[in-house]
Amino acid sequence: MHAITAGPSEAGARPTFAKRAFYVLKAWLQAPMDVATLCPSSPYLTRKLANRDCVKNARCVIELGPGAGGTTQALLEYMRPDAKLLAVEKSTVFSEPLHAIHDPRLEVAMDDACALAEIAAKHQFGLVDAVVSGIPFSSMPPAVAKTIAQSIHQVLRPGGVFVAYQIRDHVNEFARPLFGPAETEAIPMNFPPLTLYTWTKVCVAQQDAADRRGQNEIVHDQCA
Ligand SMILES: C[S@@+](CC[C@H](N)C(=O)[O-])C[C@H]1O[C@@H](n2cnc3c(N)ncnc32)[C@H](O)[C@@H]1O
Repeated sequence: MHAITAGPSEAGARPTFAKRAFYVLKAWLQAPMDVATLCPSSPYLTRKLANRDCVKNARCVIELGPGAGGTTQALLEYMRPDAKLLAVEKSTVFSEPLHAIHDPRLEVAMDDACALAEIAAKHQFGLVDAVVSGIPFSSMPPAVAKTIAQSIHQVLRPGGVFVAYQIRDHVNEFARPLFGPAETEAIPMNFPPLTLYTWTKVCVAQQDAADRRGQNEIVHDQCA
């Protein structure tokens, strides 16, 4: 386990909510199925995403779908000073606000999460501690959603955590076969209200032991 933890810190000038909403609207007009919302995540949600041990203790985090960077800024505020964050965003509309975040811990990849394993390798991110995702699994073709879920599982270290904030439940269909059941939390203070899902990648040794005991279910205890 990592010893150093970080509390909230200054992670660069924060664009106003209205400015971020402008970028979201612009991106939505270009690709509504990818953006899937007209409103950036609320401060309540961004704090819920970032103020958790898997982010505060992490050395390497990948964010999928950072949009205009409100969630990115929140993650950076809580991450360790020596941690790294790779933000992967498909819409070029968000290139400007994401590149305006001046934080040496942040790397931005304007790319499609479908190629997550290759993107992580290119940025020399080995197995990561956490993947935080806002990409809408409900509005993408099932084959694409399955590929992305498998890539997330692949880039996480054993005991690593996958966090997804979603309006609909489709993400479960793709993540559950890989990770087992999620912990869920309703987030009413966001527009629209949504659900926060958390999965922990099984430690192989624990799964082997469970399999030997004849238990077919996925084991959830986090690796030491
Ligand atoms: C619901 S918005 C979340 C934006 C921001 N994180 C927030 O909470 O305000 C979803 C984001 O995922 C991005 N996205 C959708 N599909 C993607 C993909 N396959 N790869 C990377 N980003 C994707 C969209 O462009 C959009 O920025």
